[in-house]
Amino acid sequence: MSATVTIRRLDAGSLGELAPQLSDLFADAVAPHRAEIVKLVVHRRARGRGLAEALMQAAEREARAMGRPHLTLFTRRGCEAERPYEKLGWSLAGVIPHDSAMPGGTPCDGALYFKQLAP
Ligand SMILES: CC(C)(COP(=O)(O)OP(=O)(O)OC[C@H]1O[C@@H](n2cnc3c(N)ncnc32)[C@H](O)[C@@H]1OP(=O)(O)O)[C@@H](O)C(=O)NCCC(=O)NCCS
Repeated sequence: MSATVTIRRLDAGSLGELAPQLSDLFADAVAPHRAEIVKLVVHRRARGRGLAEALMQAAEREARAMGRPHLTLFTRRGCEAERPYEKLGWSLAGVIPHDSAMPGGTPCDGALYFKQLAP
């Protein structure tokens, strides 16, 4: 099962999107309390207005409502989302060398973050 939280303009188009992967069969078997944020994107024209923060807060509410208070996400080390994540209370669990890639395909380090939601 998965879900997508989307913020839309009144006229047209998506300004921001976030995809929490709420579960799959394997993850359910080993960690039924966990949800993973698999994608967070805000349209270039809409950045800097708090949409990423709003999307992440909506995902947290959804995960809590589904009984999944342990959240994880994986991103590129050094990418622009790291500051927002840390501001929202996410912690860096570790860095994996060469595990991710730049938009052009050049390998780079990946960063694993986690957040434990309050009950
Ligand atoms: C990263 C991204 C989602 C941020 O979206 P946003 O809507 O502009 O972020 P917000 O406006 O909610 O900002 C939240 C906080 O993070 C900070 N922040 C946002 N973008 C930042 C950046 N590029 N550099 C430094 N800080 C940044 C903001 O200043 C804000 O903190 P503040 O309230 O103290 O000012 C957006 O730039 C994006 O879609 N980037 C491309 C995709 C991407 O990198 N996704 C994540 C990889 S998994």
